[in-house]
Amino acid sequence: MPKVAPIDQRKADHIKINLEQDVRSALTTGLEKYHFVHEALPELDLNRVNTTLSLFGKTLNAPILISSMTGGTEEAGEINQRLAEAAQEVGVAMGVGSQRAALENPKETPTFSIARKVAPDILLFANLGAVQLNYGYSVDECRRAVDMIQADALCLHLNPLQEAVQDAGDTNFEGLAKKIEEVCRKLEVPVIAKEVGWGISERTAKLLADCGVQAIDVAGAGGTSWSQVEMHRAPDEFTRQLAATFVGWGIPTAESILNVKKAVPEMTIFASGGLKDGLDIAKCIALGATLGGMAGNFLKAAAVSTEKAVEMMKLTKRQIEVTMFACGAERIRELENGKLVEKPSDEDFQKALEYVLEKNKELYKRLANL
Ligand SMILES: Cc1cc2nc3c(=O)[nH]c(=O)nc-3n(C[C@H](O)[C@H](O)[C@H](O)COP(=O)(O)O)c2cc1C
Repeated sequence: MPKVAPIDQRKADHIKINLEQDVRSALTTGLEKYHFVHEALPELDLNRVNTTLSLFGKTLNAPILISSMTGGTEEAGEINQRLAEAAQEVGVAMGVGSQRAALENPKETPTFSIARKVAPDILLFANLGAVQLNYGYSVDECRRAVDMIQADALCLHLNPLQEAVQDAGDTNFEGLAKKIEEVCRKLEVPVIAKEVGWGISERTAKLLADCGVQAIDVAGAGGTSWSQVEMHRAPDEFTRQLAATFVGWGIPTAESILNVKKAVPEMTIFASGGLKDGLDIAKCIALGATLGGMAGNFLKAAAVSTEKAVEMMKLTKRQIEVTMFACGAERIRELENGKLVEKPSDEDFQKALEYVLEKNKELYKRLANL
């Protein structure tokens, strides 16, 4: 058996646990509260519905992002290869997982750089944990990560809760904003800040905008829960119970998008966290996002084959097209024009019902007195 270094072991555990265990958050994304207004006469030709967009100098065939996941082990390299081949074929964006493993052990570089090798044209994102800027990393490591895969942008992930519930996590997040700001100023490509599944508050959005990030991936609650993943790999009962506490933690994806939109209206938003299909991605775009990302779902497809990943991406793209067709949007940005409505909550519905019953009573009284 080859000797596995601790970061690699962690990466291998993450893939295995995500594929084999139920690691969903106890929360929902909040997207189920919204629906598109159906148009029976959309006055559109489905074949002319256009999902293309331009971002950071690249053209995408659909607003779909394969969220940052993996690299660092042989299996992870194979998954990156399949995801990238599929992204190239369908014309969608992709992020690789944290590249720390390869920065510390250059032999692992090919498990990440394979993505660019097989996908020369895609919008590709490098990835590092922002907290590493408090543990010896600087703009140099960020640049090396970008160069390693010829990335178009760098994702700095923010995962304080994951670090806090894992054994020996990197938990010093003090003074990080200033360091993120320095990376944004000095790096040659755009910096994207992303959560990993607990969402973004208005305060965090403002802070990140002040740092100079060019996009925020909200990675909200409602999908993969990293405290659940850490619970499954906890070395003892204490750590297991600590991680289990947070199954219902975080800001749901829909709310996170609205938080960023409110706090920094001009910010480019990527939506992820629990999105299950193209309809969910379309809802996120209608709420103000530019791309919709999925991690767990694409991982499961790529674990089977490149063909399975292509099939899933094509289905996701088609789901977006049909959604646009049925609500009368020919171009992707038209989804934002009031096509999404919020379903009344049960409480609102109850109030409306009581109001109608009251009005009816008054009406009958008046009729009786006629
Ligand atoms: C197996 C796996 C590994 C991940 N590794 C990373 C990572 O290295 N860096 C990162 O920024 N996010 C990582 N994520 C988080 C995802 O990018 C995403 O933000 C999160 O899983 C929520 O999306 P989902 O609900 O569609 O899974 C990982 C997710 C999965 C499933």
